[in-house]
Amino acid sequence: MSHSLPTLCGSIMGSPFSLSAKIHNAAYAALGLDYTFVCFGVDDPVAAVTAIRTLGVRGMNVSMPYKTAVIPHLDAIDESARAIGAVNTINNLDGVLTGYNTDCLGAVRALQEITGLNNKRIAVIGAGGAARAVVYGCLQARAQVAVFNRSPARGMALAEDLGAHWGGSIEAFDARAFDIVINATSVGFKQPDSNPLDGRLASHLIVMDVAFMPVHTALLRQAKTLGCRTVTGTRMLVHQACRQIELYTGHEAPIDIMEHAMLQEIRRLKL
Ligand SMILES: NC(=O)c1ccc[n+]([C@@H]2O[C@H](COP(=O)([O-])OP(=O)(O)OC[C@H]3O[C@@H](n4cnc5c(N)ncnc54)[C@H](OP(=O)(O)O)[C@@H]3O)[C@@H](O)[C@H]2O)c1
Repeated sequence: MSHSLPTLCGSIMGSPFSLSAKIHNAAYAALGLDYTFVCFGVDDPVAAVTAIRTLGVRGMNVSMPYKTAVIPHLDAIDESARAIGAVNTINNLDGVLTGYNTDCLGAVRALQEITGLNNKRIAVIGAGGAARAVVYGCLQARAQVAVFNRSPARGMALAEDLGAHWGGSIEAFDARAFDIVINATSVGFKQPDSNPLDGRLASHLIVMDVAFMPVHTALLRQAKTLGCRTVTGTRMLVHQACRQIELYTGHEAPIDIMEHAMLQEIRRLKL
């Protein structure tokens, strides 16, 4: 069976982005493993999956825009990835490629660091791939979830698929009806001054942003000013990466070292 020296892991996406390599390589070094992680910008995700098999790549992260396209080309799909309809992690175990979605676990683990989720009333803003993972994870943790989205058809479809409540447009969000609000839109990502809920928060809310660059988005800065408890997108990102490390290496992930490497790289990228 194909394999490499050192053990190769990587990511495929439209254009290569350094963050995953910094996080994973920091983890491998801390664990003392002879592993290397490389980011690949690729045009053909199907050929990339074939390359995983041909080269014996041990684990491959999958980023935009290929999280759905790879699914028919894998040997097995984990239940959460199947329900979400997106794979962000391909685990190659003895030549069998299994697709996972670690974003949902990352979101739930990040939230559970500050609150239980059972019966919590959660508003999720957005209906793209990240929102699907967040909604699925929160429902699995027995929260009550309402979806709000700019495009109604996409929001309604997500709510119906996963068994959440359709809340309506983003303007329909009323802070008084919720304990937690999560921005799962792309608004705020590399947009330090964009806040999808500007003026709509209240101090009782726990506010989470999936956007992770900058770390302290305009939404989270406004939430902090009001006295809200907050969860950063970087915390979700590092937790989902921890699950990938567990899958690719079988070891417990060194989360503090991974988070340090991630924040250092975000600072280097100046956002
Ligand atoms: N922290 C993490 O670990 C993590 C993991 C995965 C993704 N992310 C982040 O999550 C974000 C979303 O990614 P995705 O894959 O879900 O993207 P996506 O599939 O393209 O979905 C984008 C979502 O944002 C909404 N949106 C975009 N521009 C908007 C605007 N100007 N006003 C209102 N809504 C707007 C879209 O609404 P419409 O449906 O109306 O177009 C849609 O709901 C990205 O910033 C990504 O980096 C973070």
